[in-house]
Amino acid sequence: MVDNPLAQARLTVMRDVDTPPATFRAALNELSTMLLYEAARTFPFENHPIQTPVAPTVGVRLARPPLLVPVLRAGLGMADAALALLPGSLMGFVGLARDEQTHQPRAYLESLPEDLTGLPAIVLDPMLATGGSLAHCCRLLVERGCSDITVLCVLAAPEGVERLARSGLPLRLITASIDERLNEHAFIVPGLGDAGDRQFGPR
Ligand code: PRP
Repeated sequence: MVDNPLAQARLTVMRDVDTPPATFRAALNELSTMLLYEAARTFPFENHPIQTPVAPTVGVRLARPPLLVPVLRAGLGMADAALALLPGSLMGFVGLARDEQTHQPRAYLESLPEDLTGLPAIVLDPMLATGGSLAHCCRLLVERGCSDITVLCVLAAPEGVERLARSGLPLRLITASIDERLNEHAFIVPGLGDAGDRQFGPR
């Protein structure tokens, strides 16, 4: 949980129904930087000997650049921030649209490297509601050999967190909020609405 007040202030902007799309995207971009900053505590770093202008010293650098996986559409709004902090990353794409009646994810794009053995993955999706979409995306990664998944999401419902916890998938979840519940349409309450629509308009 990223409960830093700077993060919570961005989340408040995103929740506000009067926030226009450009402001929503800016807040999501900034909040994504903060989520990734916290997530990086568990990333593999290695010692990196360097010479300062004064003396030799040993610093650190990322041991293995990860694969970033934004879940389209809404996860696209987190991709720039992640690439800026981890410029050596690879990027794959998964496109999922949740059916309004059944709430099941429908896959329409899968663009991932064939073999993910030994490669850490960072999945980007602002919303974890029922958990169906993120479980589907993470399963695609595991099928390709990935065994180290970090999921960054802005907010989550308890139902979705529990589903991922019970899934047995090798993942850790970083979020700025676990909200109260899902409503009868499987929307997060109080939530922020549909993160894809709020960035890009209705589909
Ligand atoms: C939203 C959201 C997640 C998913 C969460 O995407 O961005 O991907 O729903 O719901 P779940 O946990 O119940 O699966 P949506 O399907 O609305 O597509 P969009 O990003 O194109 O708006």
